[in-house]
Amino acid sequence: MLSTKQDNSSNPLLIQAARNLIIRRQKEEAHNPAMLAKRAGVEPDAWQSDLLRSAAKQVILLCSRQTGKSTVVALVSLHEALYKANSLVLLLSPSLRQSQEIGRKVKDALARLGPEAAIIREESALKLEFENNSRIVCLPGKEATIRGFSGVSLLVVDEAARVPDELYQAVRPMLAVSGGRIILLSTPFGKRGFFHHEWTEGGAMWQRVKITAHDCPRISRGWLEQERQSIPNQVFRCEYLCEFTDTVDAVFSYEDIMRALDSDVKPLFEEDHAAT
Ligand SMILES: Nc1ncnc2c1ncn2[C@@H]1O[C@H](COP(=O)(O)OP(=O)(O)OP(=O)(O)O)[C@@H](O)[C@H]1O
Ligand SMILES: [Mg+2]
Repeated sequence: MLSTKQDNSSNPLLIQAARNLIIRRQKEEAHNPAMLAKRAGVEPDAWQSDLLRSAAKQVILLCSRQTGKSTVVALVSLHEALYKANSLVLLLSPSLRQSQEIGRKVKDALARLGPEAAIIREESALKLEFENNSRIVCLPGKEATIRGFSGVSLLVVDEAARVPDELYQAVRPMLAVSGGRIILLSTPFGKRGFFHHEWTEGGAMWQRVKITAHDCPRISRGWLEQERQSIPNQVFRCEYLCEFTDTVDAVFSYEDIMRALDSDVKPLFEEDHAAT
């Protein structure tokens, strides 16, 4: 017997309505990356929502371990690539393995959006290239091999406190002509290097966000208290309270060195002798 039920999949009005819905959602999502995050299964924390909506050109995220900094920046990167044609997003970390780790978060989010989210032109362990000509590239942590990219629209530096200064100095010029954005994200690692410098003395052009373990709804107070009792106090304050404590291997503390500086003491050698 023939069904009297209407076959919705071939109803042109319904098909058009569905298309209109997708187009409207895409338009909204283009201006609101938090929508993309939710579609990818991440209900952003308040600070993650703020970051997803931020238009700041230079952002530093100083965050405790496991607060979701890599996750949210992966979503920012994916949004940039999907909604800004021809964009180039570079993911840099102290090592290629770590860059690939954040690249994997991008791919996981993309997979959760479903196959209709984007047409992938090329995919490898190091690169995602979309039909809109956007690319997301994972970089190795070696200065000699990262040069050569230009027109960078978003530069992400994950675990930035552990990225060598030379590497940072080699990638920054990639933003000179494009006027692209940069996001540094890290747990602190001592009072040294560009991450500490940009956080403390980098000037007003940086948007600074600090998220301790207490600010993260997924880290329980009980677990944190246990952790505090199991690891050295200095490490706890660095990893979970975002303090730029001295690294465990430092012989002298930063404060002791600063106290020992005395402008009245003459150097043992004149500067031109010391340089030779
Ligand atoms: N808004 C969120 N809702 C639910 N889970 C989240 C959210 N943000 C992050 N997570 C989860 O929290 C865990 C830690 O996230 P992520 O790896 O991004 O943190 P991280 O700060 O980069 O950690 P690490 O310091 O170890 O690099 C992951 O399992 C991630 O899926
Ligand atoms: Mg991380």
